Amino acid sequence: MKPNPLSAKDQARVAELIAAHRGQPGALLPLLHAVQDALGHVPDDVVPPIARALNLSRAEVHGVVTYYHFFRRAPAGRTVVQVCRAESCQACGAEALLQQAEQLLGCGRHETRADGAVTLEPVYCLGLCASSPALQIDDRLHARVTPQRLQALLAEVPAAADREAVR
Ligand code: FES
Repeated sequence: MKPNPLSAKDQARVAELIAAHRGQPGALLPLLHAVQDALGHVPDDVVPPIARALNLSRAEVHGVVTYYHFFRRAPAGRTVVQVCRAESCQACGAEALLQQAEQLLGCGRHETRADGAVTLEPVYCLGLCASSPALQIDDRLHARVTPQRLQALLAEVPAAADREAVR
C-alpha cells in the first residue's frame, strides 16, 4: 500500500531542514536525522528533494536511508520496542529475547503491527553493554532483561485483540 503523500506542513518543514543543511559538508546524514526527528520517519517522498538539494542521485539517498536501520521509512507504532542485538547482548541471549518479543507482541522484527500499536526493532548497542541484555521501550532503557522481565514489560503493550480499546 502506498503511504499517504506528505502534507503541505510536512513539505514545508522538510524544505526548511534542507535549506538549513544544504551547503554543509557531509550534510546527508545530519539532514536525514533531522527529518526523522521532525516527522518521526523518513518518507520516500523526501528522497527526490534531498537528492536535488545535495546534488546526489536518488539512488544514493535511498541507499543511505535503507542501509541504516535507524532510519524508518514508515511511521512507527504508538510504542517502540528496541531489543539490542550487538555483541554483548547477543552473547547474553538477545536473539531469544527478540524471538520472545515477536511472539508476545504478534509483530516481526523491523515491523509495525497492523493495528499500529507497536513497532519492534533490533538495534545495535544501547550503551548498557555491562548490563546485558538490554532493551528500550519508548524512552525507557531496561538492563539485565530476563525472559520473565520481558514478559512483564511487554504486558503493558496492548495486545492486538485490544486494538479497538486503544483507539
Ligand atoms: S551490546 Fe547491547 S547495550 Fe551494548
